[in-house]
Amino acid sequence: MIEIRHLTKRYGRTVAVDDLSFRVRPGHVTGFLGPNGAGKSTTMRVLLGLDAPTSGEALIDGRRYATFRRPLHRVGALLDAGAVHGGRTAHDHLLCLAHTNGIGRARVAQVLEQVGLAGVARKRVQGFSLGMKQRLGIAAALLGDPAVLLFDEPVNGLDPDGVRWIRQLMRRLAAEGRTVLLSSHLMSEMALTAERIVVVGRGRLVADTTVAELTAGHASLEEAYLALTGSAVEFGAAR
Ligand SMILES: Nc1ncnc2c1ncn2[C@@H]1O[C@H](COP(=O)(O)OP(=O)(O)OP(=O)(O)O)[C@@H](O)[C@H]1O
Ligand SMILES: [Mg+2]
Repeated sequence: MIEIRHLTKRYGRTVAVDDLSFRVRPGHVTGFLGPNGAGKSTTMRVLLGLDAPTSGEALIDGRRYATFRRPLHRVGALLDAGAVHGGRTAHDHLLCLAHTNGIGRARVAQVLEQVGLAGVARKRVQGFSLGMKQRLGIAAALLGDPAVLLFDEPVNGLDPDGVRWIRQLMRRLAAEGRTVLLSSHLMSEMALTAERIVVVGRGRLVADTTVAELTAGHASLEEAYLALTGSAVEFGAAR
């Protein structure tokens, strides 16, 4: 489970996350929505210990990320697919990560197969397309077979086949009993993937509900989302 408790994160005068609280439970995909700059990536970075909270806390299974000795076994994440050493091969990139968490070669081969990169495993990452880098990032997230997964816009750059693959993968991971938090701006895709939705605007919680509830009375999730975030003056969403 993911638990965000009264989380605030400021960068100088910018309040990226503002007293945000919500929980993400296992068993279904939870979509993380909000306008550009709403604080989604910041929340995920704090969860992963890549940024320190100004106040409040972000917990995985009741603990801060920094307290895990082998974190890849607890939480997997794809935040920035571009953040890979281009000179390394896909295989070596994953093997380096695996080593730091006591994971063996066989698992590296397994995740490369799972994301469809087995055929280019020995190629340098600098020659990879954006979609291939996204797949590599997903392979890294899966390495430790974690119960909690965070994906920040994993669909970016993927072809239609890849988009469908991600949808099915997310749903399968959740059905296996994992906690899956997924951010995306593609509402039609989110409607097909997620069961619950957390919406943030200017770092604050705007909605924490089911897709069905949010969409009720609207033609689509996109219409419902726009109606919600369109009332910018009410909650101060950055638009
Ligand atoms: N390292 C940083 N230094 C300064 N400001 C930052 C930093 N990271 C994020 N911010 C600011 O915090 C706010 C929230 O940004 P964040 O990236 O979390 O939004 P987001 O919801 O992920 O947006 P998007 O949908 O565009 O990815 C923005 O105003 C952003 O400019
Ligand atoms: Mg972001």
